[in-house]
Amino acid sequence: MQYQRLIKKGEKLRVTVEEDGSGATAVSVASGGYLKRVNQKILLIIFLSFLFCCYIFSFSSFSLLGAFSRESVGFGPYEPFIAPLCSGISNGTICCDRNGFRSDICIMKGDVRTHSASSSVFLFTSLKNKSKIPEKMKPYTRKWETSVMETVQELNLVYRDDNSSLSVFFSTGGYTGNVYHEFNDGIIPFSITSQHFNKKVVFVIVEYHRWWVMKYGDIVSQLSDYPPVDFSSDNRTHCFKESIVGLKIHDELTVDPSLMLGNKTILDFRNVLDRAYWPRIRGLIQDEAANKTGKRFQELGLKKPKLVILSRNGSRELLNENLLVGLAEDIGFFVEVLRPDKTTELAKIYRCLNSSDVMIGVHGAAMTHLLFLKPRTVFIQIIPIGTEWAAETYYGEPAKKLRLKYIGYKIKPNESSLYDEYGKDDPIIRDPKSFTRKGWDYTKKMYLERQNVKLDLKRFRKPLSRAYDFSIKRIGPVYSSY
Ligand SMILES: *[C@@H]1O[C@H](CO)[C@@H](O)[C@H](O)[C@H]1NC(C)=O
Ligand SMILES: *[C@@H]1O[C@H](CO)[C@@H](O)[C@H](O)[C@H]1NC(C)=O
Ligand SMILES: *[C@@H]1O[C@H](CO)[C@@H](O)[C@H](O)[C@H]1NC(C)=O
Ligand SMILES: *[C@@H]1O[C@H](CO)[C@@H](O)[C@H](O)[C@H]1NC(C)=O
Ligand SMILES: *[C@@H]1O[C@H](CO)[C@@H](O)[C@H](O)[C@H]1NC(C)=O
Ligand SMILES: *[C@@H]1O[C@H](CO)[C@@H](O)[C@H](O)[C@H]1NC(C)=O
Ligand SMILES: *[C@@H]1O[C@H](CO)[C@@H](O)[C@H](O)[C@H]1NC(C)=O
Ligand SMILES: *[C@@H]1O[C@H](CO)[C@@H](O)[C@H](O)[C@H]1NC(C)=O
Ligand SMILES: *[C@@H]1O[C@H](CO)[C@@H](O)[C@H](O)[C@H]1NC(C)=O
Repeated sequence: MQYQRLIKKGEKLRVTVEEDGSGATAVSVASGGYLKRVNQKILLIIFLSFLFCCYIFSFSSFSLLGAFSRESVGFGPYEPFIAPLCSGISNGTICCDRNGFRSDICIMKGDVRTHSASSSVFLFTSLKNKSKIPEKMKPYTRKWETSVMETVQELNLVYRDDNSSLSVFFSTGGYTGNVYHEFNDGIIPFSITSQHFNKKVVFVIVEYHRWWVMKYGDIVSQLSDYPPVDFSSDNRTHCFKESIVGLKIHDELTVDPSLMLGNKTILDFRNVLDRAYWPRIRGLIQDEAANKTGKRFQELGLKKPKLVILSRNGSRELLNENLLVGLAEDIGFFVEVLRPDKTTELAKIYRCLNSSDVMIGVHGAAMTHLLFLKPRTVFIQIIPIGTEWAAETYYGEPAKKLRLKYIGYKIKPNESSLYDEYGKDDPIIRDPKSFTRKGWDYTKKMYLERQNVKLDLKRFRKPLSRAYDFSIKRIGPVYSSY
């Protein structure tokens, strides 16, 4: 297909003729801008044209004809005729022959794209060698006449890194806003889908949320060398050689090695997290060292196994949390209570959990942070009545795959706030399955949104002591010299 585009610029008129389709060659020509003065210089032109014709015919008429006839058969090496200096240049190269008295001529080979806004023609190529120098040129044949050349648009011939060749499209909409869904439906699947690209992949996000990119930027930058593209409001045209639209998901909060290139597991995903959060955590540590505000108490406590309570607020609250802290300290733990909310920096939560030996929490989305625990540490999930299935499916099973020591603590009816409200004989207490069977909405309204937990500490001492013994076995004996 052949087409013409007319660009008005002041009085000047420029015509660009492009040949597209199978013919991958484009010829840029500046035309016009000189008609007025033609008469005055006509003699000179005739003279020079005469010289030029003599030159052409005396030296290359046969080979020119040969080249044209060859072109109808295949694609011949035209460079010796058009730009002798550029004979034999390879793909991915810009070459300019500026030996001509009348004109400069450049050849760009490979993936060439125009960008009119910056008067540029890009050549996309791998920029492994940094010696790719851009060229400037004016596509007009009166190179020696400075005044007229000044009226001709200068083109920048620029190498561009061919980095946008792969892309993965996904949405950050849906249930996003809940940390479980953010990891389960988003972060882990896009890690599964893109990890084998070795960061040479562009994420194109549908339903782009700026807060999401802020919150998960650390992780995204471990998986992609490029800033994510906002599909809806980015009006540039992005070109890719290959795209995956959508994400692959395996199971709840996990990576199935049998479905991964190189048998990658959820532990490899955890390593991605560790690399993602390390720069920020190092920054925090340096800050604290500089201000001498380092957590002295934590340094002192470090010799004991560290237990973190993920505290909930609103529903499924731990009503006797203070007593639990006392009990845990009594057993020998150093205790930290974490109250993450939507604005808590994930790097800080990671730092806390990556250095802990036991995590305790009441079933809920915050249990997703089990991904931040080191393998062979302990996760105790407190399971309110009516939530057994969800607790095991969403967190118990994934915890085992992450090689955590998992303890599911199913509360007794008298540890539930619903017990005080309804009494021990109400079907809500006696037979939760008769309600949960009716569907998630029932479960949610009855058992998730309206239930708090008051631990029977006599009973809870047992799993807590087990967790302590397990931790001591792992980290060695406690030095209580401080
Ligand atoms: C040159 O590079 C382009 C784009 O990278 C590619 O499409 C083309 O096949 C290459 N041609 C040759 C002859 O290698
Ligand atoms: C790039 O650099 C390497 C080593 O520095 C060299 O061997 C290679 O020829 C260079 N490639 C190009 C296209 O200049
Ligand atoms: C490709 O790399 C260039 C710098 O070499 C950068 O300006 C550009 O944004 C990158 N492309 C994408 C799609 O990120
Ligand atoms: C693209 O968006 C930018 C910023 O919103 C705007 O300035 C520009 O005119 C838009 N370009 C096109 C081609 O719509
Ligand atoms: C992945 O697992 C399969 C089956 O267990 C095994 O045959 C293969 O060698 C493993 N590949 C790697 C890279 O570990
Ligand atoms: C997490 O803990 C391990 C072992 O204690 C440590 O090597 C690693 O640097 C920690 N990661 C971060 C991001 O702090
Ligand atoms: C340390 O001091 C800097 C400024 O002096 C401050 O921005 C930073 O928040 C402080 N860090 C801590 C942990 O107090
Ligand atoms: C629970 O959260 C709300 C809203 O964030 C807050 O106002 C309230 O003080 C919190 N309650 C407790 C006990 O932390
Ligand atoms: C709760 O019930 C259990 C039996 O299910 C009983 O052993 C325990 O003493 C009760 N706890 C309280 C505080 O009543």
